[in-house]
Amino acid sequence: MNILIDNANYALVMALFDAFPYDGVTTNPTILSREPEAPMALLKRLREDIPSQAQLHVQVVSTQCDAIVSEARHILDALGENTFVKIPVSDAGLRAMRALKGAPITATAIFTPMQAFLAAKLGARYVAPYVTRITNEGGDGMRVAMEIHDMLRAHSMPCDVLAASFSNVQQAKDLCVHGIGAVTLTPPILDEMTSCNQTGIAIDTFARNFAKAFGAGRTMCDD
Ligand code: G3P
Repeated sequence: MNILIDNANYALVMALFDAFPYDGVTTNPTILSREPEAPMALLKRLREDIPSQAQLHVQVVSTQCDAIVSEARHILDALGENTFVKIPVSDAGLRAMRALKGAPITATAIFTPMQAFLAAKLGARYVAPYVTRITNEGGDGMRVAMEIHDMLRAHSMPCDVLAASFSNVQQAKDLCVHGIGAVTLTPPILDEMTSCNQTGIAIDTFARNFAKAFGAGRTMCDD
């Protein structure tokens, strides 16, 4: 399962790539609105500095079909390889996907399995259900994400779920067990995944016991 960073803060994203084996970055207009830098300048900087094989998912802002198509082409031309254009699955968005067939598209703002199925039929490489937002609306976001995955596999479609909108790591773990292709997680949830109090306590105990027996500061390098 690919794990992506759902954030566009340059320093934060670079620090996460330095430390962990993440697979890419996802952004949307709201995420970009939190950063002081002009959006395309920031995206170009991220594209240049994250690993070249890492994915960068960038969402269109336009809402009419022709404008979505032009904006999508501009994003892909400007940012190059391993960039995916995120298109919300509105009526205009689905029409734009048809016009862009063959382009690397992530269909986003997905709330129902059939929205995802239509986007996959139109050639989307990823479909992004919003797990927590679906649940907040009275649905079952986890079930929707899993059903979409099963549907894509049942029909052998060359498309993967890129699940978004998480409340905790447990949700990502359950989707991982189910074989979901990708998740995008916010930095607080990534932190939750990489830090565990009990691991820290175990490490402290090992260090204390070793120092008591063999002397402070000694390690296995001291033959
Ligand atoms: O990119 C869409 C996704 O990030 C939505 O997440 O947390 O705003 O529901 P959230």
